[in-house]
Amino acid sequence: MTKPVVLSGIQPTGGMTIGNYVGAINQWLNLQEDHDSFFMLVDLHAITVRQDPKILRERVLDGIALYTACGIDPQKAALFVQSQVPEHAQLAWVLNCYAQMGELNRMTQFKDKSSKHANNVNVGLFSYPVLQAADILLYQADQVPVGEDQKQHLELTRDIATRFNNLYGDVFKIPQPFIPELGARVMSLQDPLKKMSKSDDNPNAFIMLLDEPKKIEKKLKKAVTDSDEQARIYFDRDEKPGVSNLLTLLSVATKRPIEQLVPEYEDKMYGHLKKDTAEAVVAMIEPIQERFKVIREDQALLDNIMRQGAEKASIRADKTLKAVYDAVGF
Ligand code: ADP
Ligand code: NA
Repeated sequence: MTKPVVLSGIQPTGGMTIGNYVGAINQWLNLQEDHDSFFMLVDLHAITVRQDPKILRERVLDGIALYTACGIDPQKAALFVQSQVPEHAQLAWVLNCYAQMGELNRMTQFKDKSSKHANNVNVGLFSYPVLQAADILLYQADQVPVGEDQKQHLELTRDIATRFNNLYGDVFKIPQPFIPELGARVMSLQDPLKKMSKSDDNPNAFIMLLDEPKKIEKKLKKAVTDSDEQARIYFDRDEKPGVSNLLTLLSVATKRPIEQLVPEYEDKMYGHLKKDTAEAVVAMIEPIQERFKVIREDQALLDNIMRQGAEKASIRADKTLKAVYDAVGF
């Protein structure tokens, strides 16, 4: 029996928050058990904005080490670096010739990004949704986990693939958006009405997976709680967003349901909840940090993981690229 194919891209920039870990990585750990999973560090995408080459190289290795430390298993999933599988760039070129300026012009992410990087509005930034289409279509992916902000790009991928198939027959599988079963949503520690994000300007708003335990304790100590008359602890995302966020984190980190935690805390002080949450979060991520250190220092192991991943990816990608080249007359 063939397993469904799932593909996900990882930006090789900026590490991972506990929000990313809880919301996304935990999903992937489940997916790799019963899917043909492809997890890729998208360094080709990264250079649409200027990168320091030395830092980019380090960040890619950080990413490989971190995802492995989190439990992505190179024996089960393909964990690889995009630039090491040349079929991505090759297919992207072909698809560029089947994507229209008009449809790319409508991509709202390009508008956002080009205003953010106004001094470097390069062609790659404009056409990166086409590279993304290539990323997906190469693997004949059944499912692509997409966030809200990527829906438009997946729609474009489907349009390009359908257009190509209409011309040449069924070369591509049309991918389905896959709204992943929601892992817990972790909110900002400083403004619990918005999600925790590593691009937050306030570093106290998020916890990185590789933050020192001391730092984690400090950030949780400073976490905004809710100032109502009675400083009671109960779960209500609207009325008590700060406290509810702490309860969510505690629940995830201890693997205990919130309903079980609430009665234990309802008569306690906020400080107590913060302290226990910090302890639990540290206990959850310390083993990951330790594995990360070991893997990150083992260049031979990293090379081996990347090579194995690229080989696995290439087998599948090459098959698609051959069919595409054949279709267009190469
Ligand atoms: P960030 O804002 O930290 O850069 P992204 O928007 O790049 O994160 O999202 C990467 C992945 O992590 C997505 O799958 C997203 O659903 C998940 N994710 C991001 N932030 C959170 C969060 N605060 N809580 C739960 N999941 C999250
Ligand atoms: Na982001």
